Order: sequence, then C-alpha cells, then structure tokens
Amino acid sequence: MPATPSAPTGTHQDLQFHQADPAQQQAELAAGLQATPASVSPKFFYDRLGSHLFDAITELPEYYPTRTEAAIFGQWLPDMAARLPARAVWIDLGAGSCAKAARLFGTVRPAAYLPVDISAAYLSQALEPLRREHPDLPMLGIGQDFSVQWALPAPAVHWLERLGLRGAPRCVFYPGSSIGNFGPDEALRLLRDAHAVCRQGGAGSGLLIGVDRVKAPEVLEPAYDDALGVTAAFNRNLLLHVNRQLGSDFDPAAWDHVAFYNRIESRIEMHLSARSPQTVSWPGGSRRFAAGERIHTEHSYKWEPAAFADLLQRAGFATPLHWTDARGWFSVFWAPA
Ligand code: AVI
Repeated sequence: MPATPSAPTGTHQDLQFHQADPAQQQAELAAGLQATPASVSPKFFYDRLGSHLFDAITELPEYYPTRTEAAIFGQWLPDMAARLPARAVWIDLGAGSCAKAARLFGTVRPAAYLPVDISAAYLSQALEPLRREHPDLPMLGIGQDFSVQWALPAPAVHWLERLGLRGAPRCVFYPGSSIGNFGPDEALRLLRDAHAVCRQGGAGSGLLIGVDRVKAPEVLEPAYDDALGVTAAFNRNLLLHVNRQLGSDFDPAAWDHVAFYNRIESRIEMHLSARSPQTVSWPGGSRRFAAGERIHTEHSYKWEPAAFADLLQRAGFATPLHWTDARGWFSVFWAPA
C-alpha cells in the first residue's frame, strides 16, 4: 500500500502508514479461493500463532537458512563492515523483532536505524529494549507494506533531515532470504524500489541482502517438510487465519501439507491438499474442492549467485560482492547503489 504521508499514526515516535482494509482483504481471499488453481497469499501465514510457528521453524534442524545466514555474518562481519559505509542510516526491511540488525550494531555503528514492517506498534515494542541499550542511536519504526510498492515516507525523510542525516549514506538491510518469497518480477520491482531509496542517500549507499541458494532437493525439501510437522502446522494455521478474516469454515485437519522443490522454476512450492471432497463456505461465497485439489500458499525461490547478481544489476545496483558459507548454501550480497 502506498504511504500516506499526511496521516501517520503510531506509538512512541514511530509511524504507521499501513491500514489493513478488511473488505479488500476479504475480496482478495475470496478471489484467490475461487480461482483455479486456488491460492492464498503467504502474508496470511503471519497472524500471532503463525509468527510463533515461523520462529519455531527457524530453530528446526532441517531449516538451515536462518542459522547459515547467521554463521555467514558471524564469520564475515568484520570484512563486511570494512566495505559498508561508516555512519550510515540503516533501513531494515521486514525487521520484525529487529534482532538481526541489532546484532550488527556494535560492529557497523549506524548513524540511525529505521526498521520497516507492517505494524509500527509491533516495531515500537521491539524497539523499546533496543532504545534503552543504544540511547545514542536514533531509531524510527515505520509501519509499511512494502510488498507492492516501496519508498521511504516523507515524515521519515524529514526525521533524517532534522538529525542532519538527509545526505548520509543508506544501507538497506534485507536478510533472511525473504526476497525468495517474491517471484522474479516482483523481486526486481522491490530491488528497484530499494535502489531508489539508496540513491536518495549519500555516496556509498547500498543494499545488504541475504539470499538462499539452489541446492539438492534432499536438503531443500526437508527444510520445508520437517519431521516434527512444524512447517505443516505453519501451513495449516493459514486456514485458521483465513477463517477469521473471511468468516470461512475451513477445517485444518481436512488438509495435508505439501512441499516440494520445482527444479524448473528453482523454487520450493507449498500447497494445502484437500484430504477428501469438501465444500468451504463463507458469507457471500463458497468453493467445492475435489479430493487432492490444492490451495497454493507459498513460493520460496532459490537463486544461483550469478543469477541474483544479474537481478541486482538489472535493478540498478553496481556489481555486488557476496559472502557465503563453507557449503555454499546461502549468500549475503552487498550491492552498492
Ligand atoms: C520468510 N521466508 C524467507 C521463509 C522461507 O524460507 O521462504 C518462509 C517459510 N516458509 C516455510 N518455511 C519458512
């Protein structure tokens, strides 16, 4: 949703620009459920329980991306810091708990920190202890949906101006391979938006981004279909969230979790598959599902480093640097703007 600079709300000094529109969400859900094949956007994974389940996923032995990325930062951070701009404004996309960026503060020493996530209220909570720990680091949480279009909202730019940081270099930080949940065209759009935000900053600005790599299906598939069934619960929980949003009557127990690697598209696909023929109803609509019929819930694209470097350059960035782990499973790119 585009930012509406005129009417920011939020707690502390943080700014909320995204206003969920229940009627629009219901229309989007109904259209997705009535399409063939049916689909629900992965954003519906992340209600309160879904966010906890995702945190649990990152602890699973099979789910390597989180700990592999952390190991890359653990090993290469001093080298990265030497190449990143000093005293930069850090803009953390999809910041959530802000924990990943906070771990870097001691080494990269930002001039200001602007986490961006859908809810400024959630960011305010996450920032409370960080503000106490780093009293000299100005922080501003921004509640924005950057999934369709993204720019730094005018009040955030004014805030930087008041701090004398309007012309400071910017480091857009987008870890976790969340870029993989966008298709290549949408990923290019987001990278172009990030490039424009960087270009509005001073010399040395750029993007620091974590990207999961193409690898054997024997490694990829268990990461999305773990032995404990946590990812299956995460996938099915989306139906409970949809029930609350749409007033539908999905029975999560009537759906199987399906996750597989599509080699041609270089992506993990997650679906829910109907265990038996069933009709799902909601106010104003319904959908009959045959046994085995699927609802598509997520793509998680995996990239070869050269292909991702090419995507970054198509978005306007200069030739990137990248760091990887010993197994070559994950990459962190620094792309100067
Ligand atoms: C948030 N995102 C990067 C995760 C991924 O790996 O695509 C979401 C996820 N879906 C299932 N497991 C994790």
